[in-house]
Amino acid sequence: MKRALTILFLAALLSLVVLGAAYAAPPQQGGGQEYTVQADDWLSKLAEKNYGDVLAWPVIWQATNAKAAEDTSFVAIPDPNVIEVGQKLWIPDEAEAAMMLEEFAAERTAASPQGSADVTGELNILCVVQPEWCEGQISEFNKIYPGILINWVRMSSGESLTRLRNEASNPQFDVWWGGPVDSYIAAAQEGLLEPYDSPNAVNIRDPKLMKAPDNAWYGIYIGSLGFATNTNYLAEHPEVQAPTSWDDLIKPEWKGQIMIAHPSSSGTSYTQLCTILQLKGQDAGWEYQRGFASNVLQFTKSGSAPARFVGQGEAAVAVVFSHDIVTQQENGLPLQLTFPAEGTGYEIGGTAIIKGAQHPDLAKLWVDWAISPAAQEIGPKYQAYQAPTVIGASASRPELLEVNLINYDFEYCGNNKKDFVDRFTNEIANADALKE
Ligand code: F6P
Repeated sequence: MKRALTILFLAALLSLVVLGAAYAAPPQQGGGQEYTVQADDWLSKLAEKNYGDVLAWPVIWQATNAKAAEDTSFVAIPDPNVIEVGQKLWIPDEAEAAMMLEEFAAERTAASPQGSADVTGELNILCVVQPEWCEGQISEFNKIYPGILINWVRMSSGESLTRLRNEASNPQFDVWWGGPVDSYIAAAQEGLLEPYDSPNAVNIRDPKLMKAPDNAWYGIYIGSLGFATNTNYLAEHPEVQAPTSWDDLIKPEWKGQIMIAHPSSSGTSYTQLCTILQLKGQDAGWEYQRGFASNVLQFTKSGSAPARFVGQGEAAVAVVFSHDIVTQQENGLPLQLTFPAEGTGYEIGGTAIIKGAQHPDLAKLWVDWAISPAAQEIGPKYQAYQAPTVIGASASRPELLEVNLINYDFEYCGNNKKDFVDRFTNEIANADALKE
């Protein structure tokens, strides 16, 4: 099953995988029964059958693991997505299950940062999301840590990576917040990030996908790429329809009508580039990019800006993250959101502590908070509709991920970022005259 589908359709399952992992398995004192796994069983199905609640499956997982620790006829389950036919499980009775669920909830609450007015100092944040959200998120952090003075600068992903590279011997920023993790993977490879084992790492829904193995970065949101088409343009041009395929964008009818950022500055645009290279393969992918670029009116610096420009009628179609299209629709711009049917790429937005940060302890507080449910539910207040990465925070616009997502390979895209960006700049379009 595609990784993306795992995020979407097994969201509850994944979230509770980590929820279960977050808590030490309690010894099973109460009642219950053995059960032998049948074909087509999975833990959430058994939880529904036994407790009337699919989300209660970590009870069976943890109870079976606890049994395995004391009884060799049981085998521990390392990955709750995988149970074998014939394997023995322990199914606690309803009273025991209810107690375990209460304990899980209490431990999760205890893991949320409480904040303190006694913590003082300065924190320098390199922020990649839209400025309104940077500002909003910082002011919310200051509500729980009012003694921390935060200085911040907004830069697109590629620019911020360049900045971190240039400052490697004398880092000015403590924290990097926002932007697709492809850049974080590239930065980690270059030794620019400081791994940090946050106690809140247990909150992350899918740790394999949504954090670095050494905790050099953590995922803080998820968002899919979409197309924004100006509806006035569509009304005036009945011969064209809003694109629903990547191949639509290289048709002659869109010549000079497309806007996207440049992958050297923008994480959004790099996500598009790496999506195409994965969907089509390298040879056809680069060929596609050449055709696509020849239809682009102008490349921008910031990834989300094309949604606004297209909404204002400067071009007909923008390729941007879908949540940024929703924001501009809310702002009243005439935009239709569509997705490529053959699959679209998606981002995991990241956060990290910078290697050599001058305020590492405060940076840790930020990271702890950034991967707490409370922090991840703030976005919509500032028109940011990315989906959260942590258990306990719900997506404001889940439909933006309920589309055909490709199995985006963040390692591949992160490791090749420099090469792919250089090739795009040298062979397809340079970054000399970017708009905004
Ligand atoms: O804040 C909006 C957003 O689209 C984020 O979801 C994304 O990580 C970031 O902007 C990317 O910005 P850029 O493309 O300018 O690097």
